[in-house]
Parts: sequence; structure tokens; C-alpha cells
Amino acid sequence: MEILKLGETAKKMHVGPERAREILEKRVVPGIKKSSSTRETYYVPRIMFDYAKTMLGLEKDKEFKKLETDDGISGRFANRNGPRVISFSNLKGGVGKTSIAANFAYNLALLNKRVLLVDMDSQANSSRYFANRYFVGESIKNLFDRMSRREHVGYEEIKEKIVPIAFDNATIDLLPSELSLGRIVELSRSVFTLPHKKLSDILKLVKEDYDFIVIDTPPSTGLSLHMSLYASDLVSIVTDAEDFSVNGLNELYLEIKELAEETDHDVKVDSVFINKVKKSNIHSVYIEAIAEMAVNEGIENLYTIKESTRFKESQNLHIPLIEYKKELEKKLMIAESMLEYAIEKAVEA
Ligand SMILES: Nc1ncnc2c1ncn2[C@@H]1O[C@H](COP(=O)(O)OP(=O)(O)OP(=O)(O)O)[C@@H](O)[C@H]1O
Ligand SMILES: [Mg+2]
Repeated sequence: MEILKLGETAKKMHVGPERAREILEKRVVPGIKKSSSTRETYYVPRIMFDYAKTMLGLEKDKEFKKLETDDGISGRFANRNGPRVISFSNLKGGVGKTSIAANFAYNLALLNKRVLLVDMDSQANSSRYFANRYFVGESIKNLFDRMSRREHVGYEEIKEKIVPIAFDNATIDLLPSELSLGRIVELSRSVFTLPHKKLSDILKLVKEDYDFIVIDTPPSTGLSLHMSLYASDLVSIVTDAEDFSVNGLNELYLEIKELAEETDHDVKVDSVFINKVKKSNIHSVYIEAIAEMAVNEGIENLYTIKESTRFKESQNLHIPLIEYKKELEKKLMIAESMLEYAIEKAVEA
């Protein structure tokens, strides 16, 4: 991945370093600022620079020179076609759904998109990934609980549960989960006539506040997964390349298709992330089988992510990969496919 520093970005835009700093500071070109007590360094992945040009409708690099930055960037990066909801799913556990959903969501926020990350897994891993705390009595569970007791759940009640989480370069909103979510969701099955619609009902009320809503789903079939898929426009499948992964994918596919038929909601499988790929490539057979399945199903976005201890580090530090400052270039390499996918979705939207 090509990464431009401040001087290189300035040169590309045909402006001086001070003007370049201003453009980066206002996120007219979204980049990654790394501050220490003595200096600030800017990193602009080339793909983010090109993304800014596309979103701002600039033909040439030097048009940045004339661009008004005083009114900030609001509006210029907003979705033209309204909010989009994307779920990250697999029935198999531990494959990286949470890691990829959370980092993908944060990358969208870095691209100046307004993002809500919804944790639909009672393990609450994506809640804790970024927030490093528990949300007992303060989570999405309470919303389902209220709904099943026929209490009012409106914009205010939902917003009350959403926590903004600020990192150095962007802020992401989180609708957290807690351990008892699974139980409450399953209990609510007998209360509602159309239980699979309930997450969608919640999200509809806050949708206008966001460009993207990213849902982290549990590793099992059940109402939480059905609610998530029903609320989504797109699904991204996350898998590893181990024995049984391919069978698991077929199961998930059947589940998605059945739900689509039953509920009349067509959720599109938009991408496959093959995660935890090892250097030695011992599982190239599985990768090939997964890739073949993706091609047969007409899925255009197929990504691989290498196995790396950075994921665990980032989770333990409760910081998105890209914000974890040490060895930023290496983190960017690991996060590259998630950033590429985020840019594709951001431009499309
Ligand atoms: N590319 C990777 N390389 C190495 N470790 C990874 C990678 N991706 C994720 N991990 C690690 O694997 C573990 C499981 O990841 P994660 O929690 O994202 O999976 P999950 O599919 O959400 O799991 P669950 O099914 O329990 O929800 C975590 O410890 C995470 O840090
Ligand atoms: Mg998870």
C-alpha cells in the first residue's frame, strides 16, 4: 500500500505544507494523524487520497488548491443513496466476524462517513473491542425487553443506548450488547407476531443519523441472526480456511436464502473475507474451494486477510487496527482489504 506523508500529499495537491496540513486537519482529504508531544505526522494511504478526489468530484490533483475548506466537509462525503446496513456473518465461531466488522466500521468512519456499529452478539465482543467496558442494563437488550413488554421505544430511547466512541481520527457510534441479549431475544419470539423485523424496526428510527450501520452477528443460527439479516441490505461473509469452513458457508447460504424467501427481503451476499490465512498456505485447497463458491454465487468482492497477532493486540488495547500507532504502515497492510472494501462501499453509497 502506498502511503503519502504530509510533504508528499502537499506536492501532489500543488500546495504548500501549511495548506496541506489544513486540508488534512479538516479531513477534506481523510488521512491518519499520529501525534506525539513533539510532532504530528500525517499518513495518507494513496487509496484514501483518490477516494477524496472521487467524493469531491475533482478531476485533477491540483484542484485541491482551489477547494473551499472553511465550511468543513459535512455533506460532501454523505451517502447520495441513503443509509446502508451491512452484516458480518458466519455460523462458525472465532473466524473474525467481530474483528472485521469493527475495523471495517471504523474505516468507514475514517472516510468521513457517519457510522453506527450494532452488536447483536450476546458475547458483546464488538462492544468491548472499542469501549472496554460492560453494558449491563444499558444495551440493545433493553430495547428488545421494552418492546416485548409493549413499552414505547422511540428515537430518544434508542439514542439513550448509543455510545459515541472517539479515537484520534474519527468517532464511531456503538449500540452495545450484553450477555442476556440472546435470552431476551429468544423470549421475545413468542411475544411478537413478526419477531425477525424487530431490529429493523429499531434501526429505522435512527437510520437518518447514519451513512452506514454495521452489524456484528453471533456465530449461530437463531433469531439474533435472522433479525440482523432482515435489517441488512448486504451481508459480508467472514470465514477462515479450515476444514469444514466450506460446509459452514453452504449452511449460511441456505439460511440466508430461506430467510429471504420466508420474509420477502432479499439481502445480498456482497463479499467474502477469508481470514487468518497462514503464510505457509497449507490451506490453499480450502481457499480455492471458498473462492469457487464465491464465484458460483456471483460474489465479486473476495478478500484474504493474513493471520496476524496485531488483531489480538488491537482488541486487547481496545483500539482499531489503524489507530494503534506503533508500526502504522504494517497495520495498514493488514487492514488494507478492509479499507478497500470500505472505500468501495463508501463510493457506491
Ligand atoms: N487475521 C487474524 N489473525 C490472527 N488472529 C485473528 C485474526 N482475525 C481475528 N483474530 C483473532 O481471533 C479471535 C476470534 O476473532 P473474532 O472475535 O473477531 O471472531 P468472531 O468470528 O467474531 O468470533 P465469535 O464467533 O466468537 O463471535 C480473536 O482473538 C481475534 O483477535
Ligand atoms: Mg464475534
